[in-house]
Amino acid sequence: MRTPLVAGNWKMYKLIADAVDTVTALKPLVADAEGVEIVVCPTFTALYATGQALAGSNIALGAQNCYPKDFGAFTGEISPQMLLDAGCTWTIIGHSERRQYFKEDDAFLNEKLRYALAQGLKVMFCIGETLDERQTGAMNAVLERQISKGLAGLSAADFAGVAIAYEPVWAIGTGITATPEQAEEAHEFVRGLLRARFGQAIAEAVRIQYGGSVKPDNAAELIAKPNVDGFLVGGASLKADSFAAIVNAAR
Ligand code: PGA
Repeated sequence: MRTPLVAGNWKMYKLIADAVDTVTALKPLVADAEGVEIVVCPTFTALYATGQALAGSNIALGAQNCYPKDFGAFTGEISPQMLLDAGCTWTIIGHSERRQYFKEDDAFLNEKLRYALAQGLKVMFCIGETLDERQTGAMNAVLERQISKGLAGLSAADFAGVAIAYEPVWAIGTGITATPEQAEEAHEFVRGLLRARFGQAIAEAVRIQYGGSVKPDNAAELIAKPNVDGFLVGGASLKADSFAAIVNAAR
């Protein structure tokens, strides 16, 4: 049995006080949520204070990105060591907004993934096709490329710290959620890719989260699918009550 992993990706929202208020409201709403792993991913500036507010709770702290070096002359970047220092145990890598707006390619994302894992961060590694790729029949080839290049060089032990987030780009922030059948089909395909590359044990153990307009009213039917192992939630994670409802649907 894979423990569902439900993470909130707060993107570039929330000042520090708002981030702290949100987790302060969230904590009691999910305090008795067993059988589910919960993560919130605030902006860099709110990480430390949010982590302090989360101390002793069942909610872990994650970042949204990192750079594959420890220290150095890399103006504007942040290292896994700094994220660990701020209280993070997780980071997101490869979100479609990073791929699209910041031109992060498969090779660079693979470098980030391997570096973050080597430093002891766990990683939610995002993949997913655009609408155009889906409509032109390129979806499976895109997912295959993102998995084969993105996860290249990972050892069996590395997979203890990796979750895959399948986020169809056309469903992110659009209000259009993949149907449970569309999600399951993609997740099953991705699990097959993991099996072919890394073997049965890893394919069965790795959690595949769904992301893209997840809301309290569609979470239950998505998580009911055998290959959907949790969520990466954007918009609906910004409010404690809606994020808690999604967590509670997954437990
Ligand atoms: P959304 O974002 O839930 O607002 O669609 C998901 C994501 O980008 O991780």
